[in-house]
Amino acid sequence: MPTPSMEDYLEQIYSLIEGKGYARVSDIAEALNVHPSSVTKMVQKLDENKYLVYEKYRGLILTAKGKKIGKRLVDRHTLLESFLKMIGVGEENIYEDVEGIEHHLSWDSITCIEYLVEYFEQNPERLKELWALKEEDEKEDKAFKAPEQS
Ligand code: CO
Repeated sequence: MPTPSMEDYLEQIYSLIEGKGYARVSDIAEALNVHPSSVTKMVQKLDENKYLVYEKYRGLILTAKGKKIGKRLVDRHTLLESFLKMIGVGEENIYEDVEGIEHHLSWDSITCIEYLVEYFEQNPERLKELWALKEEDEKEDKAFKAPEQS
């Protein structure tokens, strides 16, 4: 597994604060599956870059810049989850897949995906056509792989 990037940290910190009002080093470590010492290092780096203010005994507070970027990252994650779900990706793959692609897409691609999601939301009958295509293919696949069972 690749080491989480600065974006992963900011995204996680923002959603922890949104969810429970604060983000402790131990919570961040658990969420990202890393050692607390790595969290402390990254938090210091984020502090140097003015995304947050970190005080050892008072915890961390996002700056206006940190909040703005954090929200964008969380929104991007949510958008990509809706997108994968919409096109029929299995529930069990969605989180990992989003974690895998979110940092590699340009904001141009993100914006285009946003329009696509909006288009399908406004035209659910088109979405049904897409799913029907997939279902038909899956049926054929099954028939091909296991002809003795059909
Ligand atoms: Co994410």
